[in-house]
Amino acid sequence: MGYANGSALRNRKVLVTGGCGFIGSALVRTLVRDCQAHVLNIDKLTYAGCPSTVAEVAHLPGYQFTRIDVADSTALEQALFRFGPDAVVQLAAESHVDRSIDGPAEFIHTNILGTYVVLEASLRYMRSLPEESRDRFRVLHISTDEVYGALGLEDAPFTEQSQHRPNSPYSASKAASDHLVRAWGKTYGLPVIISNCSNNYGPYQFPEKMIPTMILSALHGQNLPVYGTGENVRDWLFVEDHVSALLHMLTAGRVSL
Ligand SMILES: NC(=O)c1ccc[n+]([C@@H]2O[C@H](COP(=O)([O-])OP(=O)(O)OC[C@H]3O[C@@H](n4cnc5c(N)ncnc54)[C@H](O)[C@@H]3O)[C@@H](O)[C@H]2O)c1
Repeated sequence: MGYANGSALRNRKVLVTGGCGFIGSALVRTLVRDCQAHVLNIDKLTYAGCPSTVAEVAHLPGYQFTRIDVADSTALEQALFRFGPDAVVQLAAESHVDRSIDGPAEFIHTNILGTYVVLEASLRYMRSLPEESRDRFRVLHISTDEVYGALGLEDAPFTEQSQHRPNSPYSASKAASDHLVRAWGKTYGLPVIISNCSNNYGPYQFPEKMIPTMILSALHGQNLPVYGTGENVRDWLFVEDHVSALLHMLTAGRVSL
């Protein structure tokens, strides 16, 4: 594996939501296989969630799975207290911009209400912990650079200080979730970390996303679909590099306040 501090997570318990999706499954595979961490994967298994993405670790003793909607507060809280994690990583989301334009309701449900439920359950759980475990507990929320809007050809890359300018129901729902996470940190002292990564690419990405769409269209001799005039700018991040960053945040990340 490419992550030097993976041993710091050995035998640590990490609850991952959305762990059958593209980024979540990459994190789950690395945590269980390479870090020997214990993972509870919570996923509703929507069209975007596929158990085969974690098949290579599903038989290992460090892996558990429960099919839950993160917005189901009773089920989520029960699973959280039963598992007793050192960290919660919130990746469950509706994640496709075009779908959010055609049907925003699921985005509001999962990305906003679901994040609220994860925060409330995590807060109750944190308050139940003895001091030493409470000091170590983290909630890592995975968001997107799309909360900052769109980059022009001449623009500098976004930073954490960039202003929120969401342009789609998807990015608006993620910006709302970021605000909730920050507020639960500020108001209630929940030890939260927010990351706003750029577009990911790599194995197991659902074919509706841009790079798989382009590759599959090219392989089938079809036209390559281009938005607008083709001048949109995107930063790209290899999903396994992203996972290395997430592991680093879990072991050495500073609480976002
Ligand atoms: N893929 C990217 O390029 C990218 C870039 C920036 C940020 N992000 C963020 O990273 C996170 C993961 O993205 P991804 O590309 O892996 O998404 P994905 O769509 O591939 O996977 C999402 C997972 O969440 C699950 N899920 C959806 N609704 C749920 C619910 N209500 N309860 C429980 N599980 C539910 C799905 O079944 C699926 O397994 C998202 O929060 C997304 O906003 C993704």
